Amino acid sequence: NKGKYEHYMQKEIHEQPESLTTTMRGRLIRGGSCKAKTVLLGGLKDHLKTIRRSRRIVFIGCGTSYNAALAARPILEELSGIPVTMEIASDLLDRQGPIYREDTAVLVSQSGETADTLNALEYALENGALCVGITNTVGSAIARKTHCGVHINAGAEIGVASTKAYTSQIVVMAMLALAIGGDLISSQERREAVIDGLFDLPSKLKEVLKLDQEMKDLAKLLIAEQSLLVFGRGYNYATALEGALKVKEVALMHSEGILAGEMKHGPLALVDETLPIFVIATRDACFSKQQSVIQQLHARKGRLIVMCTKGDAASVCVGGSCRVIEVPQAEDCLQPVINIVPLQLLAYHLTVLRGHNVDQPRNLAKSVTTQ
Ligand code: UD1
Ligand code: BG6
Repeated sequence: NKGKYEHYMQKEIHEQPESLTTTMRGRLIRGGSCKAKTVLLGGLKDHLKTIRRSRRIVFIGCGTSYNAALAARPILEELSGIPVTMEIASDLLDRQGPIYREDTAVLVSQSGETADTLNALEYALENGALCVGITNTVGSAIARKTHCGVHINAGAEIGVASTKAYTSQIVVMAMLALAIGGDLISSQERREAVIDGLFDLPSKLKEVLKLDQEMKDLAKLLIAEQSLLVFGRGYNYATALEGALKVKEVALMHSEGILAGEMKHGPLALVDETLPIFVIATRDACFSKQQSVIQQLHARKGRLIVMCTKGDAASVCVGGSCRVIEVPQAEDCLQPVINIVPLQLLAYHLTVLRGHNVDQPRNLAKSVTTQ
């Protein structure tokens, strides 16, 4: 049921304030008599000790689920102190990469049925790793075959392009980081700030969704383009990859997410007056580096669209020569949950304006159950 919406993708983008609330329901505890701020993930509580003892955490997934894990990686590394590595499921299998008994493998899959992720799970189980599932589908193969896990509870997602599952996956992995971080005194303040940040997310999501018309206007400008580059770094490298994935999979426009730190090692050669470039430059520890990336792109006459924190337009867009999208500020590690929304809206509007099928892009399937 699409309700008042024309497409499932549109409905699922707009219901993110509610889906995130459901994802967090009963799992975040704040206040009460002891005023403690904690996280309770029922599915993990008996396994946290084992996870904390592991030598490495390995995220495994495909497509959007992989990107969500990439977005959560920095906060997991920070709060757990455990090395976190990333594996695209098919690539892990192609390489038969090393997985050990001392590893915790975290299998991320909206559907819980993706063949590559499922095969990677079998492989990790054979190699003796503790296997943790993060999935949206109760009773799915991945939920059944993992040792333990967390359901993201985002509600059924119908649009082939994943939107609300992405933001709920990031939130669950941030809660996973908090749970593994446990009660370490050294990071207590940070953990409490992240918990407060999680509580604030649904209202910030509502605010960022107000950019709908602005993103439609931007889509009109980009309608006939061949290509769109998306630059991000740090917490928002994943946002760049996921934004570009949305644009290519539904709007059928070439798009590439680029790690801004790699700009001079190739991508800079593409910059001219015609190619549109989207730069994510919201406030965090990488902000000044992104300002310098913008200056360098500007010096080469790049056609820039810059996403920045509310109030920062003048600091990111020297001389007023670029288009600016201002978004509300969240706790740095949760900013990807906010920043992906304008890109989801852009991909959606570009698709409708270009006359393509939004909910079932050509050649793609919601769940790829064959290799
Ligand atoms: C569970 C109930 C929820 C109830 C809550 C009350 C289910 C599915 N969930 O939620 O309805 O309101 O208790 O306390 O009945 N699991 C895996 N792999 C996965 C995902 C989950 O093994 O990929 C396992 C978990 O380890 C856990 C079970 O499935 O044993 C349910 O997980 P989850 O729904 O996340 O647990 P709760 O949030 O505690
Ligand atoms: C497919 C979908 O390729 O599978 C993507 O079209 C999705 O949207 C990917 O991200 C992985 O799916 P899942 O269910 O394992 O998260």
